[in-house]
Amino acid sequence: MNYDTIKEEIKDIDITLPPPKEEPERQYYFIKKLQHWMELKKEEKGRELTCCVNTFGCQMNARDSEKIIGILMMIGYKVVEDEDADLVIFNTCTVRENANLKVYGRLGQLKKIKNKNPEMITMLCGCMMQEESVVEKIKKSYRNVDIIFGTHNIFKFAELLSMKVLDRAESKKMIIDVWKDTTEIVEELPVERKYHFKSGVNIMFGCNNFCSYCIVPYVRGRERSREPEDIIAEIECLVKDGVVEVMLLGQNVNSYGKNLENPISFTELLRRVEKIEGLKRIRFMTSHPKDLSDELIEYLGESKKVCKQMHLPLQSGSDRLLQKMNRHYTKEGYLELVRKIRKAVPDIALSTDIIVGFPGETEEDFAQTMDVVEKVEYDSAFTFIYSKRTGTPAAAMEEQVDEAVVKERFDRLLAKVQEIAAKKAAEDVGKVEEVLVEEINDHDATLVTGRTSKNYLVHFKGDKSLIGSIVDVKLCESKGFYYIGELA
Ligand code: 5AD
Ligand code: SF4
Repeated sequence: MNYDTIKEEIKDIDITLPPPKEEPERQYYFIKKLQHWMELKKEEKGRELTCCVNTFGCQMNARDSEKIIGILMMIGYKVVEDEDADLVIFNTCTVRENANLKVYGRLGQLKKIKNKNPEMITMLCGCMMQEESVVEKIKKSYRNVDIIFGTHNIFKFAELLSMKVLDRAESKKMIIDVWKDTTEIVEELPVERKYHFKSGVNIMFGCNNFCSYCIVPYVRGRERSREPEDIIAEIECLVKDGVVEVMLLGQNVNSYGKNLENPISFTELLRRVEKIEGLKRIRFMTSHPKDLSDELIEYLGESKKVCKQMHLPLQSGSDRLLQKMNRHYTKEGYLELVRKIRKAVPDIALSTDIIVGFPGETEEDFAQTMDVVEKVEYDSAFTFIYSKRTGTPAAAMEEQVDEAVVKERFDRLLAKVQEIAAKKAAEDVGKVEEVLVEEINDHDATLVTGRTSKNYLVHFKGDKSLIGSIVDVKLCESKGFYYIGELA
């Protein structure tokens, strides 16, 4: 269902009746109540009410924020970038300790803004809120927060906000609604896309893999796949709305569909998505190496729409550590996968995630990681320093590695990754590639910026009429991780 259809549905709701029990009708009801409240507020203040949604973390969170913004806009809020707004939301990440620290820092600053605008509403949501210790800390030290919710009940956003602004009994309290897990997937709520021509599409939620360092399975819950029909219907609707590229999102897309009542493979889903007329590009992330099937690899070689790009997290090149990480593959198994992928799609761009300093990592373990990096020659790699997450098995492992040693290894890895990435990018100089134009360049308004199928950024002369179209661009000069090009 698109924005306009939802608008029509909302119009027909009678808010003098008690709220419906079913979703999404229940949320439509609260959206309508808030629309009325918004009209009165605007009159009272003589201006529009503003909201700011600040997103931390991964593409999942980015997509969740689009859903929150969709509801906010339907209520009548004006979206602004500045945190000096009437409603501020932090959509948080907790995958590494740093992410948490950033949020606490920003919350401190919000306190000052709220002193100037006491009616300002502060909301926190996302992965960090799924941790009891975090919510306890906020209750104690950040009384300026009004509403806390988690990753499983974003769809309830309008209901929670109306408790705050319309329910006298609740309005003075900090509203906390965090669910441990859910099996529910609520479809058909408004979503406001950041780009009109491309969109993320959730195909599954949660994760069942329990990699020993990772907090995601604890904060995002068990794996749940959406019905293929719902996914296809959503993408068809997006395409009608001007979308040409989708990014299928899941923590482990390779296990998509296994738990559905009528199981279907990820490859089969891709086949169905590919058939959607008007859709030009398909991307997906993330692929767990342990579940990457030959069927998928073969399909990548045939597909006309799946982009020449794959994100294949390595985490470590050491068999000993891979086992301690609970990753279910070996270094050789991973390298074999890469060989198969490259055989099917010779010029595919590969990217990865690597963790340095996992408990017990020796120089020999690290050397194995470096060896994989050199053998695979990634187009890009996200490198992370291991961060201890309370509650995960790795946090209880002894032999945490000395900080200085980790830092030194990290720097060596980063230098290697960058050297290889620059070499890979240089290989394509002179080629003509299809580029989806995304925006006017931030620094030079005579340039536009787009992405190749391999997901490389390209800047070239052009104007805003090109945004959203796919054009042939010659890659003239490589700057390491982006190109300067010209229209071909
Ligand atoms: N410490 C460091 N990096 C981590 N990641 C996940 N958990 C941790 C952790 N505790 C990294 C992994 C994953 C990426 C999204 O974040 O590399 O693939
Ligand atoms: Fe975390 Fe592993 Fe699940 Fe990825 S697959 S979210 S690293 S537990």
